[in-house]
Amino acid sequence: MTHDRRLVEVALGNRSYPIHIGRGLLQDTDLLRESMPARQIMVVSNETVAPLYLAPLKAALGDRRFAAVSLPDGEQEKCLESMLPVFDEMLVNGFGRDCQVIALGGGVIGDLAGFIAATYQRGVDFVQVPTTLLAMVDSSVGGKTGVNHPRGKNMIGAFHQPGAVIADLAVLETLPDRELRAGMAEVIKYALLGDRDFLDWLETHLDAALARDPDALAFIVERCCQIKAAIVAADEREAGQRALLNLGHTFGHAIEAARGYGDWLHGEAIAAGMCMAARMSAALGWISPDERDRAIGLIGRTGLPTQPPADLGPSRFREFMARDKKNRDGGLRLVLLRGLGNAVVTAEYDGGALTATLERGVND
Ligand code: NAD
Ligand code: GLY
Repeated sequence: MTHDRRLVEVALGNRSYPIHIGRGLLQDTDLLRESMPARQIMVVSNETVAPLYLAPLKAALGDRRFAAVSLPDGEQEKCLESMLPVFDEMLVNGFGRDCQVIALGGGVIGDLAGFIAATYQRGVDFVQVPTTLLAMVDSSVGGKTGVNHPRGKNMIGAFHQPGAVIADLAVLETLPDRELRAGMAEVIKYALLGDRDFLDWLETHLDAALARDPDALAFIVERCCQIKAAIVAADEREAGQRALLNLGHTFGHAIEAARGYGDWLHGEAIAAGMCMAARMSAALGWISPDERDRAIGLIGRTGLPTQPPADLGPSRFREFMARDKKNRDGGLRLVLLRGLGNAVVTAEYDGGALTATLERGVND
């Protein structure tokens, strides 16, 4: 049954697109056909998600030239090599520039399929059908696509906006608990970086969201998409404020790359990274110890890590952080907190606070 739909628009002029949010959207043939009008459809999914959710897409679009590739599951598959079987399938099927790529899966599939769409015959349309909480609140929106390199996270990619995002909340019912919690890291990120009211709301409704209360999840996805859509509309290519969406990510990406992709989930690494950003902000005197504890407390209540891996030392952290895409003129730019709900991107900080954070010399 379809009810209680929400619509958020990403306003980018003639590249504007809708984010449809609601339960049962994958059963809505009219919506699927309207969002995917091409005669040639290439669905990219993985071995976990395709058996669960590919059938309704195929049923709705059965009169088209329809191809699907199911990749192996996992962050380690978000690499250049995984693109080849999809390109091969598209070429074998004679897909032209007027085809559409559909990303059916979490952020790994979304980033990968988006990059495939950005590069196949120099760029074709694509639609995001996110199936994890993380993908619904973050990765399916905003047009960042790409793959990892062993030396750095998301190092190869392109900006390429989707034509639509279809977030069917019903699919979250099959999402493993650990993945739901990992998605909550990005949810908390939005509250910490720019929405104090949302932070208050989360502190009250966290348990309901983790218990998958439909209203709580619908509100979370809608609110996060509204925040992200506004930031992307103002700064699509990350010339300025979009970098705020990287709160926790400079530390977190270093954790993911250093551990080997897939060991720590992306959301888990970001959670620890946000705690490090909060500790460093407090060490700088930019937030109070109470505010630091409030941020870390919410992340801890979600069941997410609040500390980086014990064996990841300062020099390894610095090695990976030096490759961060936000860096300019050799300066390490970090997203830090000037208050709860007030993040800044800056290279102007006392380096001693960073050293202390990496050495775990600051308080929990
Ligand atoms: P993921 O794509 O690996 O999905 C997590 C796991 O859940 C996988 O095992 C997947 O097969 C499974 N799964 C997905 N949907 C399911 C469902 N409905 N039921 C059961 N199982 C399901 O991970 P993720 O957390 O969705 O995404 C992480 C990726 O997103 C990272 O690579 C990260 O860099 C990227 N990301 C990108 C952006 C962006 O702006 N492009 C933003 C944030 C994160
Ligand atoms: N997830 C960061 C961004 O979309 O900019």
